[in-house]
Amino acid sequence: MSGTRRTVPRAGRLVDRFGRAHTDLRVSVTDRCNLRCTYCMPEEATFRPREELLTYEEIARVAGVAAGLGIRSIRLTGGEPLMRASLDELVRQLAAVPGIDDVALTTNGLLLAEQAEPLRRAGLHRLNVSLDSLREDVFERIARRRGLDRVLAGLAAARAAGFDAIRINAVSIRGLTEDEIVPLAAFCRRERFELRFIEFMPLDADGGWSDERVLSGREVRAILERDVGPLAPVDALDPGQPAVDFAWDDGAGRVGFIDPVSAPFCDRCDRLRLTADGQLRNCLFSTTEWDARAVLRSGEADGEVKARIAALFGKCVLAKRAAHGIGSPAFERPARAMYQIGG
Ligand code: 5AD
Ligand code: SF4
Repeated sequence: MSGTRRTVPRAGRLVDRFGRAHTDLRVSVTDRCNLRCTYCMPEEATFRPREELLTYEEIARVAGVAAGLGIRSIRLTGGEPLMRASLDELVRQLAAVPGIDDVALTTNGLLLAEQAEPLRRAGLHRLNVSLDSLREDVFERIARRRGLDRVLAGLAAARAAGFDAIRINAVSIRGLTEDEIVPLAAFCRRERFELRFIEFMPLDADGGWSDERVLSGREVRAILERDVGPLAPVDALDPGQPAVDFAWDDGAGRVGFIDPVSAPFCDRCDRLRLTADGQLRNCLFSTTEWDARAVLRSGEADGEVKARIAALFGKCVLAKRAAHGIGSPAFERPARAMYQIGG
């Protein structure tokens, strides 16, 4: 067949039709979570049966193929990735994959106090902790569960374990998070955490997203400047990062804004995704998936499985659209919510 060969990319060639090279793979390890954030999960969630989730060996196998195609960094997400037993074991396997030079984790931090140390020892490089409020009542209104104390304990443990560039992600939602912005910024400045505000995306399970509820990065910045002082744009630490960073007037740290709705960064996107149940996706908003799990479990010889996974990556990348199109009339919400895709 003529098409088949051309969809198999050469090493380091995960380049799509728009010239974007892909070097970052987001791997969800579970759809389960110990919180129920309104912007991500429904109150009553049903989870995939355990046997549908990829094993650590299967994930490492996909990572090995991806590294051969040019993937250099892997970020583990969920659901809540620390809900999966012995995640440090997966980190160790991924950090050992030739070509992978960065293994990162996005967590809600509830289980971090116990796991920070083993994760660090396993070779985890970077840590993002999601935290939207420093008040227990607001935390609970957003997450539908309590847990602020545990997140703060987790952050302290991560610092003690030797993680340096710890990042805090806060989702901004109009009518919900305005009063959390200034206290979060003060806390992050004091504790030297890098703070990033993320605009609310239409990936909540309840369908509560609307354009009006998006509190834009620009609005968050205005609130910060009014209360904490002027912010000056600074160069990105990493040229591929979606966040636009600003520094405080007094030079004490930086704050970043990830504005997927008001200022899409699709033109610089270098990410692919693997869901917990083994489906490859080329975008948070993609409406198609490529079934890596079926290939992994086909019973074929190792070389054949790897070649077929590489071919799936190729198809996935070539099908990637130019942009997510949120706000355009043709925009279609993906069938899965955030916790089922992986942040
Ligand atoms: N919009 C924006 N960010 C979201 N997150 C989860 N759901 C949404 C959404 N609908 C964030 C979490 C976490 C990361 C995994 O994604 O807060 O920081
Ligand atoms: Fe859990 Fe993260 Fe979703 Fe909140 S945003 S429910 S912490 S997966």
